[in-house]
Amino acid sequence: MKILGIETSCDETAAAVVTDDRVILSNIVRSQLDEHAPYGGIVPEIAARAHVSTLDYIITRAMTSAKVEYEELDGVAATAGPGLIGGVIVGVMTAKAIALARNIPFLAINHLEGHALTARLTDDIHFPYLLLLVSGGHTQILIVEDVGCYKRLGTTIDDAIGEAFDKTARMLGLGYPGGPAVEEAAKKGELGKFILPRPLKGRNGCNFSFSGLKTAIRSTIEKLPEGKLSKSNIRNLSLEFQTAVSDVIGDRVSNAVSEYKNLYPKGDTLVIAGGVAANLSIRERLSHIAEDKGLRFIAPPQNLCTDNAAMIAWAGVERLKQKLIDDLDFSPKPRWPLDADAPSMPYAGVKS
Ligand code: KG4
Ligand code: ZN
Repeated sequence: MKILGIETSCDETAAAVVTDDRVILSNIVRSQLDEHAPYGGIVPEIAARAHVSTLDYIITRAMTSAKVEYEELDGVAATAGPGLIGGVIVGVMTAKAIALARNIPFLAINHLEGHALTARLTDDIHFPYLLLLVSGGHTQILIVEDVGCYKRLGTTIDDAIGEAFDKTARMLGLGYPGGPAVEEAAKKGELGKFILPRPLKGRNGCNFSFSGLKTAIRSTIEKLPEGKLSKSNIRNLSLEFQTAVSDVIGDRVSNAVSEYKNLYPKGDTLVIAGGVAANLSIRERLSHIAEDKGLRFIAPPQNLCTDNAAMIAWAGVERLKQKLIDDLDFSPKPRWPLDADAPSMPYAGVKS
């Protein structure tokens, strides 16, 4: 089975072809960073227009480098939400046109399900697994019970973790996207120069809160002599922030492991996914927790943690295998929680 995947929900225009035996035949990602950089963040209208002008070319490149003809495709999958609605519409309309023209199934993919299932593309793992899903807009701990079946153990009560990285980077003058910039600056930082809080650490449950951490960074900067940020202050604060976030994640995930083991005593896998999963110190912290608790730890390669279309194509493979096909009148959903997945229609014309 070969599936074309399309991702346009944020600031990457991406297309990929993936097979059901877990081979990524192509994975093309065009970042819109240059278009958005002058504004210090993503401008939805600019994003949508950039998707319109580049998506056809990106799909052609994905098909050409996969050496796959349209007749060989078994389905076309596109992110149908959650995300910036203009971009989502561009990807969904393009996928529907291909599905209609080639008479192949259309698969409307929840972007978060793309992240959540990536570990099954890269590694041989089985349901149910424990997942920390950390991206620009989402922070969740879930048990992935099956395709389309998610039990949420915790989420953020205010900012998403990627958002906290991005806002911290902005306050430190590190630019956008903030996560990689903070991680880079933290490499040369020294611990113990500033004190930051660990919100919700030690409390019951698996929820997160990051707004207090953000406020603490702002007031720390304001208290600096003349409010001046030296290079070493930027590096030290980046490291303190990253360490505080890792501490909180460690605490919350430890609680989640207990809940997971209570529900599934034979459950044996902890997975991290989403853009923030590219952060090496967070990955390392989780790998230690997994080792302590006797769990296998899976962190997909960094280029499959940040937004890409291989994960969307793979979610398409998983859904098509279960005959979860979507109608061509499927409406894109700007908001689409994973644990309230809409049922898809079984499709009569699935190729085997
Ligand atoms: O999953 P993703 O690519 O897009 C969304 O679906 O949101 O995640 C993007 C987020 C951004 O907030 C970015 O700053 C963060 O992931 N990120 C990182 C790193 N690389 C990307 N955060 C921390 N460390 C990184 N190395
Ligand atoms: Zn994402």
